[in-house]
Amino acid sequence: MAGNPDHPRRVELPVLQVGRRNHKSCRWGCGDACSKEPPNRSGNETYAEVVERALSRRAFLAAGGVGALVIGAAASPAAASEEPPVGPYRPNPTGRRLAFTPIAPNTVDDVVLADGYADRVLIAWGDPIRPGAAEFDFDAQTPASQARQFGYNNDYLAFFPLPWWSANSFIGLLWSNHEYTNPELMFRNYDADNPTRDQVDIQLQAHGGSIVLIQRGRKGGPFRHRPLSRYNRRVTATTPMRLTGPAAGDDLLKTSEDSSGRRVKGMLNNCAGGITPWGTVLTAEENFHQYFANLAGVTDPRVKAWHTRYLLPEGASERKWERYHDRFDLAKEPHEPFRFGYVVEIDPYDPHFTPRKHTALGRLKHEGATTTLTRDQRVAVYTGDDERFEYFYKFVSKGKFRKRDRKRNLGLLDEGTLYVAKLSDDGTGRWIPLRHGEGPLTAANGFASQAEVLINTRGAGDAVGATKMDRPEDIQTNPVTGRVYVNLTNNTARTAPDPGNPRSPNPFGHVLELREDGDDPGATSFRWRIFLLCGDPANPDTYFAGYPKDKVSPIGSPDNMTFDNEGNIWLASDGTQPTGGNNGLFACPTRGSERGHVQLFATVPVGAETCGPLLTRDNRSLFIAVQHPGEGGTVEEPTSHWPGGGDSLPRPAVVTIWRSADGDPTIGQ
Ligand code: FEO
Ligand code: CA
Ligand code: CA
Repeated sequence: MAGNPDHPRRVELPVLQVGRRNHKSCRWGCGDACSKEPPNRSGNETYAEVVERALSRRAFLAAGGVGALVIGAAASPAAASEEPPVGPYRPNPTGRRLAFTPIAPNTVDDVVLADGYADRVLIAWGDPIRPGAAEFDFDAQTPASQARQFGYNNDYLAFFPLPWWSANSFIGLLWSNHEYTNPELMFRNYDADNPTRDQVDIQLQAHGGSIVLIQRGRKGGPFRHRPLSRYNRRVTATTPMRLTGPAAGDDLLKTSEDSSGRRVKGMLNNCAGGITPWGTVLTAEENFHQYFANLAGVTDPRVKAWHTRYLLPEGASERKWERYHDRFDLAKEPHEPFRFGYVVEIDPYDPHFTPRKHTALGRLKHEGATTTLTRDQRVAVYTGDDERFEYFYKFVSKGKFRKRDRKRNLGLLDEGTLYVAKLSDDGTGRWIPLRHGEGPLTAANGFASQAEVLINTRGAGDAVGATKMDRPEDIQTNPVTGRVYVNLTNNTARTAPDPGNPRSPNPFGHVLELREDGDDPGATSFRWRIFLLCGDPANPDTYFAGYPKDKVSPIGSPDNMTFDNEGNIWLASDGTQPTGGNNGLFACPTRGSERGHVQLFATVPVGAETCGPLLTRDNRSLFIAVQHPGEGGTVEEPTSHWPGGGDSLPRPAVVTIWRSADGDPTIGQ
């Protein structure tokens, strides 16, 4: 196998000097999880030998046929346009190649794009979106004004065309997650030991998500948002929500505020997400643990053990919300964290929709939740648990998707089977069902019911021996080939490599490519292989699907992703980049002779993360959620002045990107 670029041999890795993501980001984004012992102490197998087999393609190709499966090839564009685009989006690839000149890594405090493209801020933190909202005034923020303004730290983005059954790429509803807050960039002279009540309550209202109506001219150019549209909505950390699915109503979900175990206030740390075939958004709660305090005060040993598995803090929280809201104090409300860590479904077309927390999809630090349909029209949802040595999952609904029955489809995520992934070193893998009463998931092992399996999903994954991964971020199906991509962002704590996580430590992350058996997302087995081993291409431990390494852009810490209509993967980064510079957005073909050709399309300002990314269906508009610009600085000592420039303070914002030069208006081509 030596000499074949598709089968690089394992080499001893040099010790890499890797700066952690800056401290502020870790502190507020994930509660500084990387400074602590990883919470997964289960005895699941790790593999000893490895990378040769990790990079082997034999098993993967044996899954059937060597060529790429082109899902949408049979449908003509004309036929597609006559059919309401309800159901998973199936593009019709034309075979055109990426045709932009990659940019160089840089430290410019701005959005930098490949030649021929332009960007403009579409909407920023504090912009009014609801009737009665005050204009943004940095020094006069209140909880009431923030509740009607665009929230902080925009993350996952989704576009819902108007009207709902159309394929419109010119007018629609933009969903944005607001993952977390950076109080040291929101308030002057912020005292982390003594936050005021208003500062806490403004942050509660700055979390959650936003829905805004956006529109562009048919001739192209940037999108603009329409303030005060009747669709515009804020969802926050206090919005009334419903718990649904098998765990709803369980005793463990009951608190002194909610004796039903079915009603919960708000959502926290919504990171990535997905859209359903029936036109709703799935928004995923990630690092919810950091909002809670005083695990030491929990008296029930089982409750305490479960919270420990999710890394809840022993003493005070960093944010100190518990000082003003009892529900964040575990000594007073030990069950409240059991009501967070879910995939939340929201109908953006119905401003009065009560968000639903779907317990059937498990409780974990969900990065995102992306859907596709199985061969028999059930719904499959992929989701990852973003922490070192955690697992990735797939939910498959019991009921089937019906194209014209939206009401019924809205119940599909209430019932089904949650599976966790187990990789074998021969390139195969299994989806192990987390079903109460099966295997070790019994009362004798601490799981009294399916509700308990779902509330303690991590414990269930431990019990069935799932594979510990290097921080699973976005997982998404390529709409052209049907293959599934898993971003593993990094893991500097790994000391024992295994075939699916072949580097220890793994400071720059990697990307797995899965092929469900029979190309059916409903399958319970799959084949897998390494697609990318990220890092400095000059480093022998990197791998870009066999593509010549001297032609690729350096990439580190892949986090979010999307696909264009040709099946190219667009990877967003969040972390130290291997040759320095700001985070970026990279495009990369997944098939043909250009497979593995990673090319840097855009970079974001100093301290920022490249969230989103989102392409409209016509691929003529790209959105990036520029999250936490200037993170690492403070109001008093800012490190970024984006987007205002000059002496202005940084503001998270969504940018709209379009082709400004003559030629093909398609992004990247
Ligand atoms: Fe919020 Fe895993 O990134
Ligand atoms: Ca993310
Ligand atoms: Ca991230």
